[in-house]
This record gives sequence, structure tokens and C-alpha cells, in this order.
Amino acid sequence: MADQYAQTPNGSEPPRLPSLRWEEPPEGPVVVLLDQTRLPAEEVELVCTDVPALVRAIQTLAVRGAPLLGITGAYGVALAAVRGYDVDEAAALLAGARPTAVNLAYGVRRAAGAYRVALEKGEGRERAAEAALAEARDLHREDAEASALMAGHGLALLDELLPGGGHRILTHCNTGALVSGGEGTAFAVALQAHRVGRLRRLWVDETRPLLQGARLTAYEAARSGMAYTLLTDNAAGSLFAAGEVDAVLIGADRIAADGAVANKVGSYPLAVLAKYHHVPFVVVAPTTTIDPHTPVGASIEVEQRAGQEVTELTAPPQVAKGAGVGGLPVAPLGTQAYNPAFDVTPPELVTAIVTELGVVSPVTGGGIAELCARSRRV
Ligand code: MRU
Repeated sequence: MADQYAQTPNGSEPPRLPSLRWEEPPEGPVVVLLDQTRLPAEEVELVCTDVPALVRAIQTLAVRGAPLLGITGAYGVALAAVRGYDVDEAAALLAGARPTAVNLAYGVRRAAGAYRVALEKGEGRERAAEAALAEARDLHREDAEASALMAGHGLALLDELLPGGGHRILTHCNTGALVSGGEGTAFAVALQAHRVGRLRRLWVDETRPLLQGARLTAYEAARSGMAYTLLTDNAAGSLFAAGEVDAVLIGADRIAADGAVANKVGSYPLAVLAKYHHVPFVVVAPTTTIDPHTPVGASIEVEQRAGQEVTELTAPPQVAKGAGVGGLPVAPLGTQAYNPAFDVTPPELVTAIVTELGVVSPVTGGGIAELCARSRRV
């Protein structure tokens, strides 16, 4: 394949709707989400006026990806507080909406904690709600800052691991601005490489069954003018065998204290392939994705989703109706499906974990503990 480095001069990337924003129209505050189930066909926003609407958006993947789930959880608590709903109940509903990405519970805990501290100081519910909203805004801003730092650390690591030229990077799922207060995690590193002319090609796994790679990463790559190619997940093996992959870059939904990484299902097979082919397997995630209270990978709860997501084809219009519901059947009626949303990669298969505080490599419990000690993540 003739490689052509796509070039986009700085500043020429088209403006994009933010993945999440807080608004205060006269009818009351709302959380506005870019509905990711409708992409790439249409850019449509979803206006959430209450916590049940946000929980639905989380469960149908209208809003998704670990860092953004954390931000959503925090704004959700603020929404409940400002609108005068029961904050404890809202926090429990939001934190329980999806089990694997630890950022969700973390974001909820931060905003609920700020609310509670203000109440304990005798500040009253209105001031406490303001404190919850301020905390959500802080988390949103911190995530954008972390994203920029990870992009820098990640590119420096790639240049070190792969001296001498253009990088051909394979990625899985979607890890760009759609899931972040900034430009994302793994995708932000690839974007940085693209901007400085060092990305030769971004290989994009389609990411069955909900096609986050095909629908969302390809959408973000195309908008950014990157040289990218979409592949079916099961074509990755032959791509490695052909020597076409220089590094794998993925995000994470939860990193256990021993360095095991839960990410979108299909990540673990890539790690095994990378090991066999002596290709670096790099995880890019903010420290908010590390869960020091989860000791090892086997303790991570992996979300199991509806079998229909596998037995029915979820092309964008079908996805838009609600993930996996009402799609085109691709298996006989009544077929049972195994549909874990994530898998867990053991630390020994991970070359490095890139965070906003720096790089952990080799990936060990000690390295993770040292990182946690330096972060404000609790
Ligand atoms: O089920 P999803 O789409 O929420 O899964 C998202 C992923 O697995 C991402 O790779 C992960 O959250 C990292 S995003 C920076």
C-alpha cells in the first residue's frame, strides 16, 4: 500500500460540537450531550434535564468512554443538586449506570463529595449545589489538561520506542475528543504525531459489535485529516504478520493496582498479537482511570451487554434507536450470544502506561503505586 502522510495545517481542523456541555436556559439547567449513537450520520445533541435521562444516555452509549463518563457523572450530580433532587439517590443511580469504567464512579464521588462538604460547613443547599457544579467544571478542565499532557508524553515515548520515522499505529475503539474534556487519550497521541508529521497511518479497528472504531474513530480521524485505514477486528492478525504495525495505542476503562488494563473487548487479543510480533503495546489513560482499590485484573467487573448487539447488525440508524435494539438480524432467531463489553490485559503484556503524570514502564504494581501517590486520585 502506498503510504501518503495526510497533512492538515495547524488550525484548519473543522470546528466540532462539544461532546458535553452544561447550559442554563430559563427553564432550568441541563446537560447537553452530542449523541454518539447518531454519529457519523448526523451530529445531533441530546438535552438531559434529569438524572434518569443521563443514565439512559450512559447505558445506550449516547455518551461513553471512560473520561467522559466521569465528567458526565459529575455534571449529573450537579444537575440533581441544582434542580433540588435527592443527591444521594442521583449519585447511586449514576455511579451504577455502567460497571467497568472507574471514572464514572470517580466523577460522581468528586461532585457528591463537594456537595456534602459544603453542606457540612453549613452553607445551605444552593451553595452546596454550586460547589458540586464547580467540582464538575474542575474535573472537565483537568481532563482537558491531562489529555494535552498525555499527548506530549505519548509522542515522546513513541519517538523513543520507534526511532527513525513515521509511525503506523493500530488503535481500537474510540479514544478521541468524543470521550474527553480535551482531545482524548490514545487518539490524542496519534493526533499529536499527525500534527508534527510523524503519523504514517492510523489503523482503525472497527470494534464490533457497536462499531466505535468505524463510526467514531474514523469520523474523528477523517475530520483531522489523518491518513487512516479501517479494518475489521479479525484482520489485525494478518496486518501484524505483514509487518504493517509499529505500535498499538489504546485507552483504558479501569487500570487495577497491579497494572492490568480493562478496555474495550478485543484489546487483549491485540496485546497477545503485539507480544508475538514484538510490537509495543501502549495504554494511554489519565490517572482517574487507575483504581487502586481494585487489586488485580480478575477483580474488575466486566460489563455484559445484550446479546442482540451481536445477533443483530447495529448500523448507525439502528444504533440510533438504542444500542443493539431493532437491528438487522444476522443470526437465527433465538441464538445466544456472548457479549462482554470489555476484556482485561495482564500487565506483562503492556509495554507502557502513559498518564498525564508520566509513563510507567515496565508496568508493575510498584510503578502504579508510585503514580497514585503523586496523583490527587483517591
Ligand atoms: O463501551 P465504550 O464505548 O464506553 O468503551 C470505551 C472504551 O473501551 C475506550 O477505549 C475507553 O473508555 C478509553 S476512552 C479514552
